[in-house]
Formats: sequence, C-alpha cells, structure tokens
Amino acid sequence: MSMSMIAEDTLMCDSPWGHTEFESKTLRNLLGCYPTGVAVVTTRTADGRDVGVTINSFASLSLDPPLVLWSLVNHSPNLAVFRDCQHFTINILGKDHQELAMRFANPRIENKFEDVAIHITPEGIPALHGAIATLVCENHKQDHIGDHLLMVGHVRRIGSETGKPLVFHSGAFTALHEAR
Ligand SMILES: Cc1cc2nc3c(=O)[nH]c(=O)nc-3n(C[C@H](O)[C@H](O)[C@H](O)COP(=O)(O)O)c2cc1C
Repeated sequence: MSMSMIAEDTLMCDSPWGHTEFESKTLRNLLGCYPTGVAVVTTRTADGRDVGVTINSFASLSLDPPLVLWSLVNHSPNLAVFRDCQHFTINILGKDHQELAMRFANPRIENKFEDVAIHITPEGIPALHGAIATLVCENHKQDHIGDHLLMVGHVRRIGSETGKPLVFHSGAFTALHEAR
C-alpha cells in the first residue's frame, strides 16, 4: 500500500480512529488478548521465610548481559521483600501447574509453600520442583514505575525440564494447541 493511499484512508474517516479515553478495566481486558506464560517468582527473606508470587509480567530483556524483567503491584505485602532481596528465582510453570499458579496468586493462603515440592538453590533460595524452566537471578535493578515495582534480574543460573507451558489468555488459563 502506498503512502498516498494511507493518507486518503485517513481523510475518509468520519472520526479519528481509536479511543483516547478509556477505563483501566477496558485497557486490562484489551491487554488480556496478548497471551503470556505463567511463572512463580520466589525468594527467601533474611529470617528464612519463603515468599512466592504468581506472575505473567515476566519478559526477557537482554542476552548480553543476560537480563530478565517482571513487575510487582505496589500494594503487594511482599514489595519490600523482593525489592531488597539478593536473589530471586523465576519458575516457569507447565501446563499441569494451574493449581500452583492459583495457590501463589492467593494472598489469603498464609504459607503458600506448604505441601509444595521445592529445592534450595546454591544461592539459598527456593525453586519449585517440576517447573519447566528455572532462572536464578541476582536482583540487578528496581524502579517504581506507575502502580508497579519493575524488577530486573541478572540471570546467574538456569535449569530446565521437558514440558509444555501453562498459558494465560483473556483472564483464563489455557495451553498451547498444535497449529494444525
Ligand atoms: C496468571 C496471573 C498472573 C499474575 N501476574 C502478576 C504480575 O505480573 N504482577 C503482580 O504483581 N501480580 C500478578 N498477579 C497477581 C498476584 O499473583 C497476586 O496478587 C498475589 O496475591 C500476590 O501475592 P502477595 O499478595 O502475597 O504479594 C497475577 C495473578 C495471576 C493469576
């Protein structure tokens, strides 16, 4: 399509395309059409308490140096724990880990790690057994942006197991389907 055709299309519109005023619920629903994986980020406090939160804000950021990012909502009771920790693990969940995802997303469960199989990494923090991929990260950078704390991790150790990922899309859990 030539530039002149685009300009013509634009001129032919009665009103400008798109919405410039929207409620955050509308934006949230729209963002939900972007499918993501699901992970549980974990760490251990200085006094030995294990902490974990389900996230889908995880993303890769850089390969050289190896950096990843995720974000935690400002009102999380674990904000200071993650902001100040030395290391955290990103545990990427498999398609059969829906219960684990719900468990670590439920603030009413006092000890989210009860009956959850974990191992302790050489850095001294918990990692979930059975995660299809685990990244142990050094807490590299944190920044309060909008209503979330942006966390950047320097990947120091990785491990993986075979398995298909759990997927989150339009507010619901799903799995990958074969293209045909
Ligand atoms: C699929 C899914 C993805 C989520 N992603 C995030 C996220 O990226 N950041 C976040 O702060 N909360 C996220 N949440 C919500 C937290 O898991 C939930 O608020 C949890 O209670 C936080 O734990 P805490 O209250 O013990 O800190 C997500 C929940 C689900 C079910």
